[in-house]
Amino acid sequence: SDGVEQRASTGNLPFDSEVDALILKAYHRYLDLNDGQLADYIPILAQADPALFGLALTDIAGTQYRAGDTGASFSIQSISKAFVFALVCEEIGHSAVHDRVGVNNTGLPFNSVMAVELNDGHPMNPMVNAGAIATTALMPGATDVEQWEAIRLGLSRFAGRPLELDGDVYRSEMAANQRNKAIARLLESYGRLTTDPLETVDVYTRQCALSVTANDLATMGATLAGGGVNPITGERVVSAEVARDTLAALAAAGMYERSGEWLFEIGLPAKSGVSGGIVAVSPGKGAIGVYSPLLDPAGNSVRGQRACGYLSRSLGLNLF
Ligand code: DON
Repeated sequence: SDGVEQRASTGNLPFDSEVDALILKAYHRYLDLNDGQLADYIPILAQADPALFGLALTDIAGTQYRAGDTGASFSIQSISKAFVFALVCEEIGHSAVHDRVGVNNTGLPFNSVMAVELNDGHPMNPMVNAGAIATTALMPGATDVEQWEAIRLGLSRFAGRPLELDGDVYRSEMAANQRNKAIARLLESYGRLTTDPLETVDVYTRQCALSVTANDLATMGATLAGGGVNPITGERVVSAEVARDTLAALAAAGMYERSGEWLFEIGLPAKSGVSGGIVAVSPGKGAIGVYSPLLDPAGNSVRGQRACGYLSRSLGLNLF
């Protein structure tokens, strides 16, 4: 519990001034925490500045709270999986994604090949790499180029601004993503992919290299918290049912094999990325977006997790 008292979770956030004060407190409380490692299996991520720390919250009315480096850009990485899943749910519906992608935790790391083998080639859930590649393959579009454009535009609607590819991150990962190519080939061998596997990995790698800020993550998450309506632009991005389905999949598997511990400690659907971002969503209230590149061994931002825990307790965001 990190010594933070749990505020009872009510239907609302505390008053603005109190949220402001608690975001700043969380920021200062973890600013000097330098635990963890930079990801280096994608070579360019090892060049990130480990001191960066941005903490943002957007509520469902569109109020934005910020502390630290909330405008610093980083690649969205695995957090894209949550929002691409939402776009695919919107397109093909609840039952089809349940059958073709699944929603159960693998209990294994995000890039596990064994998880696919153990489950008869089923990708298991949209938040691990196998399931995310299978999800990207289901995006509307006649070609990989059209699918990529639909993803970029869709994620931009969640963020409320045009998101762009970080070409350096994309090229760095494309030179080091043999494992994802192998996972895609494995899915193909089980008849689980109907697209060209290498083209789909290319689209997936692009989606992971979209450049975002902590503030963008908070707004993207707040769109899910508000039942699919972006609170900054007022645009409906996905249906309320899809927002709900996406949050359920995040609760089950958003923090990989740590998802149970995460729910026990923090109690919110959330998604992490290996560049150091986390989005944590409190349905009906808003979302936290955090960026800090030093990671724990499961690939989750160390400061990000602690800051989410502090805010979940002190603001009463916890679902339970
Ligand atoms: O496919 C990969 O390995 C990366 N593009 C994304 C992995 C990731 O973010 C895992 N997160 N914690």
